[in-house]
Amino acid sequence: MGRFDEKRVVVLGASRGIGLATACRFAAEGAQVVVTGRSLERLEQGLASLGTPAGMVALKCDMADVSALEQLFAEIGRRLGAFDVLVVSAGVAQRTAFEEVTEEEFDRIMDINVKGTFFAVQKALPYLRPGAAVVLVGSNLSYSGWELATVYGASKAAVLNLTRSLAATLAGSGIRVNGVTPGSIRTAMLKEVVLDHYDEAEFVQGELPVGFIGDPDDVAKTIAFLASDDARYIVGEDILCDGGSTRL
Ligand SMILES: NC(=O)c1ccc[n+]([C@@H]2O[C@H](COP(=O)([O-])OP(=O)(O)OC[C@H]3O[C@@H](n4cnc5c(N)ncnc54)[C@H](OP(=O)(O)O)[C@@H]3O)[C@@H](O)[C@H]2O)c1
Repeated sequence: MGRFDEKRVVVLGASRGIGLATACRFAAEGAQVVVTGRSLERLEQGLASLGTPAGMVALKCDMADVSALEQLFAEIGRRLGAFDVLVVSAGVAQRTAFEEVTEEEFDRIMDINVKGTFFAVQKALPYLRPGAAVVLVGSNLSYSGWELATVYGASKAAVLNLTRSLAATLAGSGIRVNGVTPGSIRTAMLKEVVLDHYDEAEFVQGELPVGFIGDPDDVAKTIAFLASDDARYIVGEDILCDGGSTRL
């Protein structure tokens, strides 16, 4: 018996990284999983890299496009009916000096990370079963500042508040909203923004009390816990999954 047998799970932003690992974890624990991303080809490549786990449906959807989100959930509703878990992992990062941030970059990050998260939950709502769980993926940069991620940090601070305000909004409908806050997790995003620019051993020694970079599955396990019945009394909470980098 898997923890998510007969559950239907939607993971937004799952062609690679944390979203892909999360989709695979739910599938491995018995769920039927819908994965989304901006490109069907990248989604299929991502799934193929893991041997295309059974029970996965890949659908294209750009998080920044509210009407596309509305159509996505209507399509999921037609295919699966109501579902049990929504994970919003899609996000874009940044490595830009404050003075060089353009209006276009600002809008792109906010549109995907904040507007996309907000409207994903709003448009999913008609299809979420009572008892459903929503997990939003934030960032440790919502708690601390970094000069090269001013817009990204602000966008993830907004996601942190959405975890709480949407939890308050939906708790009465029996829908639990929680968040997970990753720190440094070994994905393409971390490589592009951090690892390509520093000596990895020095970075780990300086930033990570546990002495290693986390795997996407470390976050996936935290998300699965929050989505499971083991977390039925946890609402509006945000769990750091960061090797101690925020608190220590
Ligand atoms: N890795 C870390 O160290 C770290 C730390 C803190 C927080 N996080 C957060 O964790 C989440 C996942 O990060 P990751 O490291 O797994 O990143 P990643 O490897 O860059 O993967 C991001 C995923 O989001 C999807 N995506 C991006 N923009 C999208 C859009 N507009 N519409 C739909 N899907 C979109 C991408 O798919 P397509 O490009 O195919 O659309 C991809 O599958 C993000 O929210 C990120 O901010 C990561």
